[in-house]
Amino acid sequence: MLELKNCNVFLDEDSLGELGAMLDADKHHSILLVTGSASYEASGARLLLAPLLEGREVTRVFDFQTNPQKSDLCRILDEISGINFSAIIAVGGGSVIDVAKLIKCFRQASDQIDKVLCSDREAKPSSAALFALPTTAGSGSEATQFAVLYDGAVKHSIAHPKLLPDAAWLLPSILSSVPRDIAAAAALDAFCQGVESYWSIHSTDESKNLARRAICLTWEFMLPAVIDHDKAAIREMAKAACLAGMAINLTKTTAPHALSYALTIHFGLMHGHAVGLMLPDIYKYNEAVGNEDVLDHRGVEYVRRVMTEIAMMLSCSSVTDAAEAIRERIKNLGLPNSLSAAGITNKKQHELIIKDGFNPDRVNNNPRKLSIQGLHSILAVTSK
Ligand SMILES: [Fe+2]
Repeated sequence: MLELKNCNVFLDEDSLGELGAMLDADKHHSILLVTGSASYEASGARLLLAPLLEGREVTRVFDFQTNPQKSDLCRILDEISGINFSAIIAVGGGSVIDVAKLIKCFRQASDQIDKVLCSDREAKPSSAALFALPTTAGSGSEATQFAVLYDGAVKHSIAHPKLLPDAAWLLPSILSSVPRDIAAAAALDAFCQGVESYWSIHSTDESKNLARRAICLTWEFMLPAVIDHDKAAIREMAKAACLAGMAINLTKTTAPHALSYALTIHFGLMHGHAVGLMLPDIYKYNEAVGNEDVLDHRGVEYVRRVMTEIAMMLSCSSVTDAAEAIRERIKNLGLPNSLSAAGITNKKQHELIIKDGFNPDRVNNNPRKLSIQGLHSILAVTSK
């Protein structure tokens, strides 16, 4: 078991009984179950949960898009407005867990959504208990206080300490059922979250320690977990994904994530794949930091040292080699490893990525200042 500040994460196959004990202890007789449309059955989660849910009133919500839209959330809140429940159980990938968090956040305040998204008002989540059973090892949503919501092509991140799940179960049997491309993208998400947290201008000794563990574990175990379905490797990836989630819960993510959302919403790339495509060239860009564009108050030498430390974690002797190794790894996971291989080939597409991906909040977490001109250069290289 991994212990977070306010959330326990269970990694043992036979630990699900703890969920039943928690539901009984707090008399949760009415449950809102938020799941993926197919993964709930295909992952075996339905069978595993059946004995724990027997005798309780259960309402299941599963009809929403992979990258949840505000319109999905409003419709769901309307549909469940007359239903009483004291606990939410989320079973699915990062988006499913995010939808569960958003329901907890807005179930009694659907009229506040726009104000919270515009940062005019702080979110006030309901008191419902929140339990998570991820079906992918990657997003780390089970270990964060963040939830992503799209309004058209605009991505919003809602944050509140009460959105951190009360407990989560990362069970190898459930995680091993996921299709290979989804597992590959999820593994890249965990890896990139570790890297971005490590180089974030908000990093601390605590966050860097979590991120370092996440980077090393994902780098060692992502291939055997995704390609060979090795149970021990899947277990290590579950731990790594959670550590990466804990790390970004402290630092937030940086430029590769900011740009990735536009790749996902406009070109349909899976989230982790989109981040993985952006990471190598932003990594090299960050290493070339100078006094004129450094954003980390610890200075240029510190940022360069951090970039070298990441390369060493990947057993590479230089940042250039490490960036190349990451690109090679994406290929070995069975995914296109350049924007052009993913069908993004021209300047018009790049402009769309920058228009909707240049989020000042997120790119300003990056250790080196990014300009729109600089992003055009990065995208031109990433397309090759
Ligand atoms: Fe992510």
